[in-house]
Amino acid sequence: MVTLDTPIKIGNFTVKNRITFAPTVKFDFTDDSGLVTDKLVEHYKERALGGAGLICVEATAVLPGGRFGKNHMGLWSDEQIEGHKRITKACHDANAVVIIQLNHAGYVCNGDCGPHVGPSEIEIDSYAGKYTTHALTLDEVHEYQKAYVDAAVRAQKAGYDGIQLHGCHGYLINQFVSPTNNFRTDEYGGNAKNRARFASEIISSIRDLCGPDFLISVRTTGFDKTVEDAIEVAEEYVNAGCDYLQVSAGMTSFDEIDDFKDPQIDKFPSLGCRFKDHFKGRVPVSNVGGILTPERAKYFIENEYVDTVDLARAILADPDFPNAAITGGNYTKCFQCKACQYGPFTNHVCPAEMVRKKAEV
Ligand SMILES: Cc1cc2nc3c(=O)[nH]c(=O)nc-3n(C[C@H](O)[C@H](O)[C@H](O)COP(=O)(O)O)c2cc1C
Repeated sequence: MVTLDTPIKIGNFTVKNRITFAPTVKFDFTDDSGLVTDKLVEHYKERALGGAGLICVEATAVLPGGRFGKNHMGLWSDEQIEGHKRITKACHDANAVVIIQLNHAGYVCNGDCGPHVGPSEIEIDSYAGKYTTHALTLDEVHEYQKAYVDAAVRAQKAGYDGIQLHGCHGYLINQFVSPTNNFRTDEYGGNAKNRARFASEIISSIRDLCGPDFLISVRTTGFDKTVEDAIEVAEEYVNAGCDYLQVSAGMTSFDEIDDFKDPQIDKFPSLGCRFKDHFKGRVPVSNVGGILTPERAKYFIENEYVDTVDLARAILADPDFPNAAITGGNYTKCFQCKACQYGPFTNHVCPAEMVRKKAEV
């Protein structure tokens, strides 16, 4: 039986167990320079020592204009490479595979950082105000693709084992993929193959430049607008050289998809299970969403619903969650209070962390 501590081959790496740390931005851990700080190194070191087999470092901006806010980590310049070497060393010392999520926020970037760009011109009316987005010209599409590829090359120089393209949650790659946001009539719009092209070409270029051993993951949308369409998009990624599909949510409401065959599994974490059903054996597939206890993590792995489970809040709340889940040890459970829920100007307070720190005194 496959268990949480069964190693798995992902790309050309053997990951020591089935638990991965999902990307989670820590806005106030850096500043406008986007450089890695001591606080960030410590944050990832703790999580690697806590036993996660694979660490995915948070959404990292490929261009300053693509940031969520001014205090957002980046890999848009060679000067940023040195700091990332400290994160990769800390994770490797703890025997974790480490990749980094590359992102441009596209339509929803912070307007103080750069223009709101994306596949099409659309009217946005959000908490950030009302504005019209700029539809990238063909030349600009290629410039933005190059920014992702350049950042991946920097990531490799910094010692990362691979990268993850941020292809979900409504950011630039997802905007290209979503038929509700991409109205282009050129080769980057229309059918699923065309909507996937923005990211597929990035994947092929990274593969050419970084070689066969560099792990390429995509955190892909599980439904946009349907699960079937999202699977067609992911097929394009796999054909282009993606080694690992980490499935999360897209830009469509969960009301639009059917319940999963197993009533014990909610729609969000079911997305990865539906992809695993389709891609079984070709590339490993992970799911995410509300996996907050060892029992829940085991349910997905032992029933082979997915190959790996991706955990965000459980490991934010307690870095030692993976070791505890595997050995049956104690851990501090996430309070689900949403205080970690992100925004550059929100107050990040984790009650689970406070409980842990109190217990240490
Ligand atoms: C504080 C915080 C920051 C996050 N930052 C990112 C991010 O950088 N990239 C990303 O793809 N998802 C991000 N997410 C989403 C998580 O990776 C994850 O998909 C979501 O929290 C659901 O998983 P969970 O139930 O295990 O927390 C973030 C979530 C939280 C709570």
